[in-house]
Amino acid sequence: MKAVLCKSLDGPSNLRLETLPDPEPSANEVVVSVEACALNFFDTLITRGKYQFKPDLPFSPGGEIAGHILKVGSEVDGWDPGDRVTAYIGWGGAREKAVVSADRLVSVPPAVSMEAASGTSITYGTAIHGLRDRAGLQPGEWVAVLGASGGAGLAAVELAAAMKARVIAVASSEEKLEVCRRHGAEQTVNYHTTDLKSALRELTDGHGVDVVYDCVGGDSTEAALRAMAWGGRFLVVGFASGDIPKIPLNLLLLKGCAAIGVFWGESVRRDPAGHRANMERVLDWVATGALKARVDRTYPLAGAVEALQMIEQRKAVGKIVLTTA
Ligand SMILES: NC(=O)c1ccc[n+]([C@@H]2O[C@H](COP(=O)([O-])OP(=O)(O)OC[C@H]3O[C@@H](n4cnc5c(N)ncnc54)[C@H](OP(=O)(O)O)[C@@H]3O)[C@@H](O)[C@H]2O)c1
Repeated sequence: MKAVLCKSLDGPSNLRLETLPDPEPSANEVVVSVEACALNFFDTLITRGKYQFKPDLPFSPGGEIAGHILKVGSEVDGWDPGDRVTAYIGWGGAREKAVVSADRLVSVPPAVSMEAASGTSITYGTAIHGLRDRAGLQPGEWVAVLGASGGAGLAAVELAAAMKARVIAVASSEEKLEVCRRHGAEQTVNYHTTDLKSALRELTDGHGVDVVYDCVGGDSTEAALRAMAWGGRFLVVGFASGDIPKIPLNLLLLKGCAAIGVFWGESVRRDPAGHRANMERVLDWVATGALKARVDRTYPLAGAVEALQMIEQRKAVGKIVLTTA
């Protein structure tokens, strides 16, 4: 089989396409014929040895895959050759055949393409874990998404809208806010030109925001917390600004609200069945069109270097996907 290999930690430009023997599954694994492998920013880091996971060399990047099951290990129950599946595997996906632990598999409905399915795990997986599992988001509640046009943010905008919540997208330019409106945001705030706390309180007619999905950190965190409704839930998702804010705890007391950490990768490891149930919901929404699962461009395995450069240069709007067809 063909595999994109990282043989030294010199970044994406040194990836090589080579031929390896076909893999065999152990007892609790399956071999998947990888038809699509979605790439992420962390793939540029893992190929430099700068990511939280540091696989032994050589390895293939690519943490999210979709394809058909080819072979099933002796103790695998409930999966058969030919099943359409997707999985979050961390790394090792940019190759024609990948070995996957059976507890990572999620079934892909016939109406969802492999390209779209491959890129759903991380962004929508985090959004549904945060909004549903951690915040208990209810229909009609106000949700403010900070960093709403980024990968994590836009998925949260779409998913909150699919859950019938009222979404306020917060981002730094009119172009970004327009993208958010097209993905389901009812209201928008430009936090570079507007006072965030006042805008959120005005847009909710003084009620305040029931759930904040904060991908950014920095100064906007406290401003959004000060605009929360009684009994609100503030989701700590990421710190794209590079600034981890410190919060006066009396704000939580005064609003009877909760600050809640969202650590999707760890939740998948601890609760694979919960992750599978969440992803089945996500893929149903993709099948009905409630979630767009936008694929920006596809590349063959031989185009992996160029594909990762698209991500590194921040040119991608939606997912970049390697395909083997
Ligand atoms: N907790 C979890 O399980 C989990 C899962 C996935 C991602 N994350 C985290 O969530 C954060 C966002 O990830 P992402 O994939 O959405 O990233 P992304 O696509 O790069 O988007 C980040 C957004 O943050 C805003 N931002 C503000 N200051 C920025 C800065 N100095 N540099 C870059 N962006 C800045 C940008 O929007 P504006 O220009 O509109 O401000 C941008 O759209 C990251 O910290 C990531 O590690 C956490």
